[in-house]
Amino acid sequence: LPTRSALTLITCLLLRTEGELDEEHWGLHFAACAGKQQSPIDIQRKKVVHNVQLLQLELSGYDRPLQGDCTMTNNGHSVQIDLPPTLSISRGLPRPYTAVQMHLHWGGLDLETSGSEHTLDGMRYVAELHIVHYNSADYSSFEEAKDKPNGLAVLAFLYVEGHLENTYYSEFISKLANIRFAGQSTKLTSLDIQAMLPENLSHFYRYQGSLTTPPCSESVTWTIFDSPIVLSHAQISLLENTLLDWHNRTLRNDYRHAQPLHGRVVEASFQAKPRQGMGQEGDGLQTISIR
Ligand SMILES: *[C@@H]1O[C@H](CO)[C@@H](O)[C@H](O)[C@H]1NC(C)=O
Ligand SMILES: *[C@@H]1O[C@H](CO)[C@@H](O)[C@H](O)[C@H]1NC(C)=O
Ligand SMILES: [Zn+2]
Repeated sequence: LPTRSALTLITCLLLRTEGELDEEHWGLHFAACAGKQQSPIDIQRKKVVHNVQLLQLELSGYDRPLQGDCTMTNNGHSVQIDLPPTLSISRGLPRPYTAVQMHLHWGGLDLETSGSEHTLDGMRYVAELHIVHYNSADYSSFEEAKDKPNGLAVLAFLYVEGHLENTYYSEFISKLANIRFAGQSTKLTSLDIQAMLPENLSHFYRYQGSLTTPPCSESVTWTIFDSPIVLSHAQISLLENTLLDWHNRTLRNDYRHAQPLHGRVVEASFQAKPRQGMGQEGDGLQTISIR
């Protein structure tokens, strides 16, 4: 039998040949990726604990459109919009957190493959938005905070498909064509993030987790909102089919699979009940996609 280090070597050679690190092997190169507080997770509603002490989040600066100069980039893994420090989570978490950027995760590998990272009762949603903030009371920058305890707070929103065009996403979706190639950037003339979010933010899930890409630092307070964002079929299709990665392959299925809870408890700001006919009994390992 080959020794453990020989196995590691073989794995590394395989990874080299393929040119990319498979998520199962992240832990070999980034110790935190094999940790016990990893993200994303499957949120099983029947195990969620209603915590009446969870405060509503107060978002500052989100209530008016940002004019000009919002840079949107295809970074080869996602589309990222850089956010100004005038946006923050001012109340609702133990510390104030300042916005840095937002990006999306989506699917589209097969005709009907969804791509959210977090799943609810085993269901994978069409896509997921992450608005990344850093703890600006204890740290001076995102770079300093990103691998520290309580360093980051990410607001996560799930997308579903509906019949109408969501016009608050029109400029964002149409400008994807400007950043087709990895490394390209464009400017948004106006960005109204609050309008891009669900109206009612009072129902959310909360747990302690990590970055969902290497180095997988366990520094993230996650808030996943229960109300989804609705986009039309055409909008989702453009999101899934416009951008290319560094190899000029269509950028797709940009999500990490659900990680074990290892005893963590997911809290909710409300009494979460499994949705009738949509919930999935069992271990939550089998994931179904909804469109
Ligand atoms: C949000 O929805 C919850 C549950 O439906 C409701 O109790 C609450 O009043 C709503 N909040 C707002 C601001 O509409
Ligand atoms: C991707 O396509 C563009 C335009 O055709 C080309 O300039 C670029 O070299 C390609 N990149 C790769 C990695 O093939
Ligand atoms: Zn993300």
